[in-house]
Amino acid sequence: MSDQLQQLENEVIARAAAVTSLDDLEALRTEVLGRKGGRLSLVMAGLAKMPPAERAAFGRLANDAKSRIESALADARSRLENAAVEGSLARTYDVTLTAGPPRTGSVHILRRTLDDVVAFFRSRGFAIVTGPEVETEYYNFEALNIPADHPAREGLDTFYLDPGTLLRAHTSPVQMRTMEAYPPPIAILAPGKCYRRDSLDARHSFQFHQIEGLQVDRGITFGHLKGFVSDLCRHLYGENRRTRFRPSYFPFTEPSAEVDVSCGVCDGNGCRTCGGSGWLEMGGSGMVHPNVLRMAKYDPEIFTGWAFGLGVERIAMVRHGIDDIRLFVENDPAFLEQFA
Ligand code: DAH
Repeated sequence: MSDQLQQLENEVIARAAAVTSLDDLEALRTEVLGRKGGRLSLVMAGLAKMPPAERAAFGRLANDAKSRIESALADARSRLENAAVEGSLARTYDVTLTAGPPRTGSVHILRRTLDDVVAFFRSRGFAIVTGPEVETEYYNFEALNIPADHPAREGLDTFYLDPGTLLRAHTSPVQMRTMEAYPPPIAILAPGKCYRRDSLDARHSFQFHQIEGLQVDRGITFGHLKGFVSDLCRHLYGENRRTRFRPSYFPFTEPSAEVDVSCGVCDGNGCRTCGGSGWLEMGGSGMVHPNVLRMAKYDPEIFTGWAFGLGVERIAMVRHGIDDIRLFVENDPAFLEQFA
């Protein structure tokens, strides 16, 4: 009987060492240690037929063998479990796997639009200048020929910080700041943020961007304005886009014109995108008012100039068919990555 026991122990230890799955190990455990019909209990059943004097000694042998079998099975279990963990770690951290390109940010579509307009004018000899977003009432209004009682102030619903101090409602104040700092001739582009007390909807925002253009020299005419602006529109929207100058009014220009570009969807025939008119508004423009030149201490008898103010969001929307100005600031990667 003790030979039988020894044989069983040897066999189980050898099989436990060789087992390769937890299922096989569990099957082995039931085969040997199972309460009903387990092979160890079959051997133990022989105990009843033994002379009573030998029973105690065999019982001890059997218990020792059982605990060695149990520890062999436990060893096998931890060997298999460790292997499983190592296997899953090796899969997760496969250092031999080629890495994909890292996901990086990209230049924002408004910055790209701005850079494009800036590059166009830089190559034509224009200097890029900036002015403060916290501006004085003087530069935002008076210096642009908009005195306190002027009705044009109503159209520019402005955020005031203190009496006399405000968030600029347009980039036009940079015109006067630049003319005060430099003698004529000048040719500048002034991009930047503007603020208005508009409620947010698909077309309006309390914060947006403009690009101001200004050229003052001897002999500058409306023809120069038309040339620069139509070239810019062809550069931005394509060779077959037409530009139109629609008579308008701004206190700081005379004559004044609204700049429209032909609708790219219907090519000027009228559709939903352009509200049936065939044209899309780009911004304001005109010949610098003599009063403005005089305030800058430029002599209007000698110098003339043109100016424009274009909306950067507007350009990007027309160019890429974006129908909601809020998309620019919502930072949704699905939107932004289309322009990356
Ligand atoms: N500052 C005007 C606005 O924000 C736009 C504008 C019109 C700018 C005519 C100009 C200009 O430079 O000449 O509504």
